[in-house]
Amino acid sequence: MIWLLAALGCGLGAQEVDSFDACATREVPLSYANFGKPFLERHCTGCHSTHLDADRRFDAPLGVDLDSFDAAVTYQSRIQARVLDPESPQMPPGGGPTELELERLQEWLDCDLGAP
Ligand code: HEC
Repeated sequence: MIWLLAALGCGLGAQEVDSFDACATREVPLSYANFGKPFLERHCTGCHSTHLDADRRFDAPLGVDLDSFDAAVTYQSRIQARVLDPESPQMPPGGGPTELELERLQEWLDCDLGAP
């Protein structure tokens, strides 16, 4: 009988893990307002902003502006590639974001911008 209870217990445990939603664990989920905007303003819009003309962007391409929610959605995969992929050249060029900020950036991209 004990083995049966143990087997049942394992089965239930596995089910709970399957339905675990990593995006639903925060009381206040990361959003553009509480994370994305301040992150991009701290690390990106010094070069990537609609307010900067060609000679004040430190060679950041014209049009690659990261100062709105829509822009973050548009550039989501490029942000993923340039900031979070260790294999490719990094943004910002001089570094800056902490490990914790990078973890949160990943979570924000997955859970807020990437949400269906
Ligand atoms: C000091 C200026 C500077 C800062 C700050 C900066 N960038 Fe850039 N960015 C550049 C330059 C210069 C280029 C063009 C050269 C290149 O692509 O490496 C560029 C290009 C890009 C591009 C277009 C090319 C591509 O791969 O799609 C994206 C997207 C980008 N940066 C994202 C970011 C993000 C996200 C941040 C903040 C985490 C950031 N950048 C911070 C200077 C900057």
